[in-house]
Amino acid sequence: MKDYLSAGASWVLISILALVISCQPKETTTGLLATNAMVVSAHPLASEVGNEILKQGGNAVDAAVAVHMALAVVYPQAGNIGGGGFMVVRKADGSYHSLDYREKAPMAAERDMYLDENGDALPEKSQNGHLASGVPGSVDGMVKAHEKLGSMEWAKLIDPAIKLAAEGFPLTENEASYYTRASENLKKYSSVDPVHFTGKAWKEGDVFVQPQLATTLTLIRDHGREGFYGGSVADFIVAEMERGGGIISHEDLTNYESAWRTPLVGAYKDATVITMGPPSSGGLILLQMLGILEDYPISNKNTAYAEYLHLKTEMERRIFADRAAYMGDADFFPVPVSGLLDKAYLSQRFEDFDPELATPSDRIMEGNVLTMSEETTHFSIVDSQGNAVSCTTTLNGGMGSKVLVDGAGFILNNEMDDFSIKPGFPNMFGVLGGEANKIEPGKRMLSSMTPTILEKNGELYMVVGTPGGSTIPTSVFQAIVNVMDFDMSMQEAVNENRFHSQWKPDVIAYEKEFANNEILELLQAKGHELVERGGIGRVDAILVREDGQLEGAADPRGMDAASGY
Ligand code: GLY
Repeated sequence: MKDYLSAGASWVLISILALVISCQPKETTTGLLATNAMVVSAHPLASEVGNEILKQGGNAVDAAVAVHMALAVVYPQAGNIGGGGFMVVRKADGSYHSLDYREKAPMAAERDMYLDENGDALPEKSQNGHLASGVPGSVDGMVKAHEKLGSMEWAKLIDPAIKLAAEGFPLTENEASYYTRASENLKKYSSVDPVHFTGKAWKEGDVFVQPQLATTLTLIRDHGREGFYGGSVADFIVAEMERGGGIISHEDLTNYESAWRTPLVGAYKDATVITMGPPSSGGLILLQMLGILEDYPISNKNTAYAEYLHLKTEMERRIFADRAAYMGDADFFPVPVSGLLDKAYLSQRFEDFDPELATPSDRIMEGNVLTMSEETTHFSIVDSQGNAVSCTTTLNGGMGSKVLVDGAGFILNNEMDDFSIKPGFPNMFGVLGGEANKIEPGKRMLSSMTPTILEKNGELYMVVGTPGGSTIPTSVFQAIVNVMDFDMSMQEAVNENRFHSQWKPDVIAYEKEFANNEILELLQAKGHELVERGGIGRVDAILVREDGQLEGAADPRGMDAASGY
């Protein structure tokens, strides 16, 4: 790794190699196979960085830190140091850990800060610009993960990201056109035009260099959390806030702490499911759905698949109603975790299920069209000792608040929109909330991110997660069910068409590639409204196969890549 990192021109070669790996599994039914270790992430260069750390003897958490930092450089739409996330770890000794490095509301935040004088919601303010950002958690999170569970020298984990930022990396055609489109927003919302990003129309093969970000990462490498929450980077963040009317202060940055939480642990058939609890709703939703599903026989053969999709939709509309009422940051609101997962409660919640007919969601509340950003990102890692990391991190929307911090070179999140800015008013993912998820100073906004690890018979079985806003838990659910109930390989489970429902709006969203009209008609006959949309989620997962090999499954919906050895 060291050799090629020091030779700028060789990045092109690495990129080509990485892209070859990324292209491999797209049309096949088996993902990348490896005997020792595996990384699957949203970008081939980040997966390659993680794999190199694993080959050097780093463990899965070391690789996770390196991949997280690399994604902040090569995948700026969601990879980040200006956002936050969740990491679930299963160590080879069988212990479970979950780290909450979700952003927090600044201390100057107020419950009604996104309402106008008439009490109307102002989603433009919660979604774009300086006021949209929560206090970033990613750097503190990576430092804490490394301190507790890492094994390699911290600096070695940050170096690859610094090189990528300083020397640049060549853009694919898709990246070039995305960057060119994103430039308009970055120009509009940043207080100083970030010309290294916005100054040209990007073309395939152009090398994207980020000198300010390289300096920021160097400070993080040399000073750990102080390199971000103190010194010049903190000054740049606060100055950016002051120029743009934001409210994150030095005190907010100094006081930010990520937190080790007790992971949520449930069961599905013969598997143990280890996932993220509050302030994510994702693990709760996943375990509620799996808990109900256990009582129903399902099949994906022919028209039986429509029965399964009907069942799944009916679960989703009930559980997302629970989400709106009961889920939030448990440090601020008493989330009834055990009650929501109680088997008797789940049976009672589902006792009005009609296998023949859709239950209309409450039509008194207005539904709205699903407009979901995919710009969270997930990666899955297994190392040669059997330690596993499932990590989902986010800026919220694509390019977050669209504010690039002048001087520090990174993009800030727009996570404040994940709070309920007004009871009954949907966030950018169309989900509703109320008291449990109201804005309070220092509180974490409710998430749907669902980094998850499964074990069977006390052994590692699967590592899975995805971006996709409110579709995250339902996509993770589908990936698990596809493998465990429908006998798919991990790659087939990832490739499979996805469906999503969430109570309001009262529709089933389906990927437009889905062409089985018979299934759609059967669902319509039960009273479901169907809405076509683009890709749902980008699941990156690893399965430990019966032959002991690791199957890395990268989602073909993006440029996601598996890299292993
Ligand atoms: N920002 C997406 C989520 O946390 O669910």
